[in-house]
Amino acid sequence: MGFPQRRMRRLRRSGTVRRMVRETWVRPDDLILPLFVRPGRGVREPVASMPGVDRWSVDRVVEPAREAFELGVPAVILFGLPEGKDEEGSEAWAEEGVVQQAVRRLKAELPELVVVTDVCLCEYTSHGHCGLLQGERVANDPTLDRLARTALSHARAGVDWVAPSDMMDGRVAAIRRALDEAGFDDVSILAYSAKYASAFYGPFREAAESAPAFGDRRGYQMDPANAREALLEVDLDVAEGADLVMVKPALPYLDVIRQVRERVGLPVAAYQVSGEYAMLRAAGMQGWIDERQAFLESLTAIRRAGADLILTYYATEFARLWREGLGG
Ligand code: PBG
Repeated sequence: MGFPQRRMRRLRRSGTVRRMVRETWVRPDDLILPLFVRPGRGVREPVASMPGVDRWSVDRVVEPAREAFELGVPAVILFGLPEGKDEEGSEAWAEEGVVQQAVRRLKAELPELVVVTDVCLCEYTSHGHCGLLQGERVANDPTLDRLARTALSHARAGVDWVAPSDMMDGRVAAIRRALDEAGFDDVSILAYSAKYASAFYGPFREAAESAPAFGDRRGYQMDPANAREALLEVDLDVAEGADLVMVKPALPYLDVIRQVRERVGLPVAAYQVSGEYAMLRAAGMQGWIDERQAFLESLTAIRRAGADLILTYYATEFARLWREGLGG
């Protein structure tokens, strides 16, 4: 036998063979589409920092959800831009808030669609922090009650899963208790367990008008340098009753996704965040990168690291490619 003895290239010779030996697949079923809901009527407003992403008024939010769902994307996650903000973020739990209205509408029109809501106060507080302030500090325990109220208002509107993203200690337990006491034991909790204090959320904060008015989120979101701490966060959320756990952002944290995957039996989600999307989109628009290949590669890498589900602004675009047979 000649050199080299083992020729790895034999199984890379054709697209058919490559498909047969491919270890990791991304399917539309793995994806969750984020949607921004705003007040008004008949509005579809582009987000400047995220070309291709829009803010929708409640009466139109079914449009992108239906498009995604009909292409095979099973779920959306909603973020709200309220009519007004205050110190406490009280519109977060308003029965007629934008998210609550959007949930009702989506469940009425697309009952099979899994509707997830982000549970946080930062879009609703005048100061843009994810909890109540005591001086310049975000107060943990008083915030829990507001988060639970918010989750409960989403449950009353018919939500399938609530996804707390605030990073207060004890919020999964507080939300689980409130839901159970009110008879919503079938509402799931997708916990943003390992959520890092990341610069990659920049475009989202423009989209959701949720940038903190002072300071930053490092007093509650995680230090990007820490991985062991992510496992502690995950353990706590599992113990408090999370049904699914999340790592966020995704691509810069593939090692964390892998470790979380090996740690828990629950489904693991990863969020390909606004900055990850904006980078790919911007480079693609400049012609500096093949955006389609780059986002397919990114999603595949996130799945390979161990994520079962991916929250991505590319969900609809991926599902369209999948239907055309390009998804593989
Ligand atoms: C709310 C929240 C944020 C994101 C999801 N939920 C922003 C933040 O924590 O500052 C970011 C999502 C993205 O960047 O796409 N707390």
